[in-house]
Amino acid sequence: MTVDVKHKIQELSTKIDEHNYNYYVLDTPIISDYEFDKMLEELIKLEKEHPEYLLPDSPTQRVGGQITKEFMSVKHKYPMLSLGNTYNEEELRDFDERIKKTGATDFEYVCELKYDGVSISLVYIDGVLSQAITRGDGEKGDDVTVNVKTIKSIPLKLRGNGFPKEFIIRGEIFMPKKEFLRINNEIRKQLVEEGYSEEEIFEKQLKNPRNATSGTLKQLNSKAVAERKLDCYLYSILGEDLPFTSHYESLVEAKKWGFKISDDMEKTSSIDGVLKFLDKWDIKRHELNVETDGVVIKVNAFEQQKSVGFTAKSPRWAIAYKFKAARVSTILESISYQVGRTGAITPVANLKPVQLAGTTVKRASLHNADIIEKLDVRIGDTVFVEKGGEIIPKIIGVDESKRHVQSHEVKYITHCPECHAELIRSEEEANHYCPNELVCPPQVKGKMEHFVSRKAMDIDSLGAETIAQLYDAGLIKNISDIYYLNKQDLLKIDRMAEKSANNLIAGIEASKKVPFERVLFAIGIRHIGETTAKKLAFYFKNIESLKNATLEQLLEVGDIGEKTAQTIVEYFSEIRSLEIIQKLKQAGLQFELSDEQLVNTSDKLKDLSIVVSGVFTKFSRDEIKKMIEQNGGKNVGSISGKTSFILAGENMGPEKLKKAEKLGVKIVSETEFIKMME
Ligand code: IVH
Repeated sequence: MTVDVKHKIQELSTKIDEHNYNYYVLDTPIISDYEFDKMLEELIKLEKEHPEYLLPDSPTQRVGGQITKEFMSVKHKYPMLSLGNTYNEEELRDFDERIKKTGATDFEYVCELKYDGVSISLVYIDGVLSQAITRGDGEKGDDVTVNVKTIKSIPLKLRGNGFPKEFIIRGEIFMPKKEFLRINNEIRKQLVEEGYSEEEIFEKQLKNPRNATSGTLKQLNSKAVAERKLDCYLYSILGEDLPFTSHYESLVEAKKWGFKISDDMEKTSSIDGVLKFLDKWDIKRHELNVETDGVVIKVNAFEQQKSVGFTAKSPRWAIAYKFKAARVSTILESISYQVGRTGAITPVANLKPVQLAGTTVKRASLHNADIIEKLDVRIGDTVFVEKGGEIIPKIIGVDESKRHVQSHEVKYITHCPECHAELIRSEEEANHYCPNELVCPPQVKGKMEHFVSRKAMDIDSLGAETIAQLYDAGLIKNISDIYYLNKQDLLKIDRMAEKSANNLIAGIEASKKVPFERVLFAIGIRHIGETTAKKLAFYFKNIESLKNATLEQLLEVGDIGEKTAQTIVEYFSEIRSLEIIQKLKQAGLQFELSDEQLVNTSDKLKDLSIVVSGVFTKFSRDEIKKMIEQNGGKNVGSISGKTSFILAGENMGPEKLKKAEKLGVKIVSETEFIKMME
């Protein structure tokens, strides 16, 4: 029986490895994601039941979940060097001359793209990945093996048997452009829902794929790494007595062992061939799903590499050619100002359309008044536009030589372009705001869209277009009016048939059952996202107590900062907000926790500050935190003299333990905590 299980585990591992290889290295999957997931699930289950058969190179290791406290610093067997840079043809011809001077006449160059990510050094022993080390200072780097194991295109076990017993292979880990965009879209969606301004969203988004890669690789929880789909191209092999004579050949062989080697490398025997490669990729690189910032040119034969040699920091036999950042100049035709759902004003540059890095650019963000002032951009100016991280175009300067004499400085708007209210700007914020949140049309419409959205009141029969129609027809002026619409009203608007009107009325009616925490999220108080709304709902239990809460009381709720607390107090001091809530209440919406929700809450942990640390077995960390909140406790991040106790799961950090002992803070286990809650 156990022999069967062992055999099954081996068989599944091999199959999954093969499918990973087809999908991530060859880019040609042969089974569906569903079938793949089923196999992986089965393997995870078998390994859990028979941990004695868990192989260190099992594909389940790629799922992540291991928590690291600190990465170990380890010495590179061969230092990780850097490359000399060149920026133009002349410097490249100089490089070619230097190589020729060493006596080489008949030789080849290999041209490769220079991937813009984070370099990594992988150690393979007996065909198994044994260590992955970051560049660090070139001599020593961080051991990030657990994180690197989650990258599916990096083989945990090599294919075939032609590889050396021990060798090192180096390459570049990167975040594919599409993955970068996907994550940023997710971040944006979340923050928009929470009412953040464009400026704040821009600040919180990933800056560029390289930064994102490096941040991801440093994550202490490998699950977080597995969730961000990093990838890796390998470009150099090191070791003793390697069985090849040239760089190109070594990579062709490495590809057979299962490594992802770029198909875009080329051999050429002259510097003119190199220049052709550069010309081609200067444009074509924008079509790739990976960020590139240049080309690396390497002497092919190992013998010749040896005779050309090294400087202290870099090989003489290789050089990087850096592409010029994609930049064009065009004319700034006008500046328009957008009013967001939260009233934040974003100035947008309208440009004379121009081609840049493969797309037509018509607009560029100007972010805020300070940036406009700093750049001193004027309407009609010829401006330089660059793609920052190749994704978001930005204006980086003005060609003053082309400026018209009559041009004058941009006067930033003082009034809202939509409702004409005077704009405000608080000291700590870069953006101007329109304060007219209950009247300004885009803010009101935006608030309503948020109100009906899936995670809020979930009235899916009421889309943005219908909201705009109803608003423009004067049938709804704020969120509470939605509940006073009748069928006759609805039929007045364009393209609204009897059936859709009935649907809509039914959808609105059904939303009256949405629980309090979601209603609180739906009404759209600035800075109150889904999580904060939940916390507030369980802490205060009904809208009356929340409405009467003082700033100090609000600050006692875990994770609520001063800014948020202030916004809440301000919200409830507005007569108009109170009127809206009153009308919603009359319509029958939930403004208190249900009896069922109240049963699960208690005052058992009232006034206690609890630090949650480590990994839990019976509940997830989020569930534990929720229990604390529902029972009146406060989740705090760090241990201090004020901490009531530490709820410690497995693997609690040694630093925290030390601190707890020093301060005499009690430690409660998961089991003890569950007993407390009974
Ligand atoms: S070869 C001795 N090839 O560029 C250095 N490097 O400063 C061997 N890079 O740190 C590096 N793509 O992270 C090489 N195809 C490629 C590369 C590449 C990107 C990075 C690498 C290195 C930096 C050069």
